[in-house]
Amino acid sequence: MTSMFDQKIDRRNTHSMKWDEMESRYGISSDDGLPMWVADMDFRPPQAVNDMLARAAEHGINGYYGNDAPFKDAVISWMKRHHQFEVKPDWISTVPGVVAGYSMAIQAFSQEGDGVLVFSPVYHAFGRAIRDNKRRLVESQLVERDGAYYMDFDNLAKQVDERTKILLLCSPHNPGGRVWTTDELTQICEFCLERDILIISDEIHHDLILDGSKHVVTATLSEAIAERTVTFTSASKTFNLAGFATAACIISNTELRRQYGAVTAANGVHSTPLGSNSTTEAYNHGDAWLEEVCSYIAANQELLIEGLEAAIPGAKVMRMASTYLQWVDFKNVDLPFDEIVSRIQKQAKIAVNVGSTFGKGGETFLRFNLACPKSTVEEAIKRLESVFADLRVQSTV
Ligand SMILES: Cc1ncc(COP(=O)(O)O)c(C=O)c1O
Repeated sequence: MTSMFDQKIDRRNTHSMKWDEMESRYGISSDDGLPMWVADMDFRPPQAVNDMLARAAEHGINGYYGNDAPFKDAVISWMKRHHQFEVKPDWISTVPGVVAGYSMAIQAFSQEGDGVLVFSPVYHAFGRAIRDNKRRLVESQLVERDGAYYMDFDNLAKQVDERTKILLLCSPHNPGGRVWTTDELTQICEFCLERDILIISDEIHHDLILDGSKHVVTATLSEAIAERTVTFTSASKTFNLAGFATAACIISNTELRRQYGAVTAANGVHSTPLGSNSTTEAYNHGDAWLEEVCSYIAANQELLIEGLEAAIPGAKVMRMASTYLQWVDFKNVDLPFDEIVSRIQKQAKIAVNVGSTFGKGGETFLRFNLACPKSTVEEAIKRLESVFADLRVQSTV
């Protein structure tokens, strides 16, 4: 069956980080390289977004943005329809990206030297934001069981101390694609409430559910948890709008909102017409697109699991329930890790993220971005079969 996502769109020379920085970052030419690294999609967004952009280009004026009521209505409606999260307009503010948002929240809710807890391995910008803000990175390593990540509550209790002020939670989790259950989320949030640790919940991947799992918004767990939670989300991962640098911060607690608002005001944060309007259009008209993209990514995942594990004896793909960022463990491959990376990047010319940048536990992993046409995944598998052919010969003798 064909899909609109099968189309290969030439993104070279469009100021695409994924394509146009592959040469400088990986030494891989975009002419024959496969960019499977940074988290954006090689797909066009829902048509309503591009229609809005065409109208805006025709109008041609790009002044300051005002009247955010349609944006807030779209966020409220989306959260209610997709996540059973009842949000009030006053709780929402925009911010130029989720990373910028949680970085300012770290400034608002902790002091230099305070600890910020994360479950590692985790999205690399978590550690960066914590260190750049001169806070202490407190890592509780996830444990792998039956091919999926779980929080280790015994280990967690040993990591935190009275200067641990914030949990920076990635829900669903990147990498690994775990969709945390209600029980897991409740347990971690109660742990935080008992120790007066504020919860910053990065839910940017919440719409990209591949296997029917139910994403639970942290702030819906209980009134007490909502009171101590700052939620960040965005249409950017869901609908491939990251270049618009627009995300939503949702805080129900008035005092937390005031403290966070003081930092965003001090930093001159404001929203943009194209960022806000693209989010509005995607949320209002993107349901069918989202359903199709999730099935497309799920099919790419099946393709990669079968093809990669057959191509590289010992490699193990962690099946993701969410995201499009496939986490692959090379621990049992009979080659030094540097050699594996070199074969994938230098010989197969596939640009992938190296696991150690995600913190403790990521050392033997690579991350493959599957938000690409199926033909890209097929080509990647073909190249992997070729550059690891010697391992398959060895494993059959
Ligand atoms: C968990 C997570 N949070 C945030 C981001 C980036 O968000 P933004 O571009 O809005 O800063 C990413 C991008 O991959 C991500 O995976």
